[in-house]
Amino acid sequence: MKMASLKIMKVLGSAALVAGALALPAAAQEGRGDVVYVPTPQIVVDTMLQMAKIGPKDFLIDLGSGDGRFVITAASKYGASAFGVDLDTYLLKLANQNAQKAGVTDKVRFIEENLFTTDLSRATVISTYLLPEMNLRLRPKFMALKPGTRIVTHDYHLGDWEPDEQRELIVPEKKVGNPGISYLFSYVVPARVPGKWQSLVNIGGRDTPLEFNLQQEFQEVEGKVEIRDRIVDLRGRIMGESIRMVAAARDGLPRHEFSGQIGDGTIKGTLVIGEGTGRQQLPWSARQIQRGELKRAADELPEVK
Ligand SMILES: C[S@@+](CC[C@H](N)C(=O)[O-])C[C@H]1O[C@@H](n2cnc3c(N)ncnc32)[C@H](O)[C@@H]1O
Repeated sequence: MKMASLKIMKVLGSAALVAGALALPAAAQEGRGDVVYVPTPQIVVDTMLQMAKIGPKDFLIDLGSGDGRFVITAASKYGASAFGVDLDTYLLKLANQNAQKAGVTDKVRFIEENLFTTDLSRATVISTYLLPEMNLRLRPKFMALKPGTRIVTHDYHLGDWEPDEQRELIVPEKKVGNPGISYLFSYVVPARVPGKWQSLVNIGGRDTPLEFNLQQEFQEVEGKVEIRDRIVDLRGRIMGESIRMVAAARDGLPRHEFSGQIGDGTIKGTLVIGEGTGRQQLPWSARQIQRGELKRAADELPEVK
C-alpha cells in the first residue's frame, strides 16, 4: 500500500518537474532565487489552507511568498497571523500593496530573505510552492518543527514522507506548472517516539508490565511489545501528538490497540484488548525509558530521481 502510493507520488513529482520548466506568462514577474515566480491559483490557496485547518490562533509562513496571496488569505479569510519571505523586491512591494488593499497590514509581514535561512520556529502552518529538490532541502527543518505543525505544499510533495492528506484540483485557469491541474499535499509534523517505553496495565485484576521497543520513520511507527513473556509486532501511525498502534491477534493472544497523546517522555490514552462485543477498554499510559533515533536521520536527503 505504502509502496504503491509512493510510486504514484514519484511519477507525479517528475511529471510536475518537467511541466514546471514551461515558459511563464508574459505578465508574471520572474521571481528571484531558486525558482521562478508562478502564482498559486486562489482556489488552490483556499483549499490548501483548509487542508491545514488554519484558524485565528495560527501563525503561517509562506516560503517564497510571491504576491503574498497565501499570507494575505490566511489573515483576511481565516484570521491568522502570517509572514512571507521572498528575494524579489518587486514581488515584496506588490505583496505589501495587496496586504494594504485587503486591510490586513496589522496581521502580516513580508521580508526580503532567503527561505533556506528563515527561522521557522514560530510557524504553526507552512505553505510552499517550490521545486521538489527545494522541498527536500527543507524537509529536515520541517521534521524538526513542533509536533502538530502543518505543512501544505503545492504540486510537489516531500519525497517519501507520505502526506497525511492529498488532493487533486481541476484548475482550468492554470497555464503553467501542471496546466489545468494542481496536486495538493498536507503533512502534520509527528512527535518523536523511537526508543524503549514501559507500561503497567491492570488486565483482569492483575498488574501486567508491558515493554515497547519502537522505531519511527516520519509518521510511521513499527516495533515490538512484550506482553506476558510474549513478544509481538506492532504497527502504528502518529498524527501530530496523537499515536495509534496495533498488535494484531496472534497465536491465542487477542488484538491490542494502543492509542494516546504523546507528551514529553509520556503517552497517555487507552488500550483496547480484543474485538467485537468481548472487547475490553482500559486506561493506558507509557513512560519512555530510553530514547532512540528516527529510523531515517532527518538530515539525510533521499536520492532525487
Ligand atoms: C512558484 S513562486 C510561488 C509564489 C507564492 N508562494 C504562490 O504560491 O503564489 C516561488 C517564489 O519563491 C521565490 N523564491 C525562489 N527562491 C527563493 C529563495 N531562495 N528565497 C526566497 N524566495 C525565493 C520566488 O521569487 C517566487 O516568488
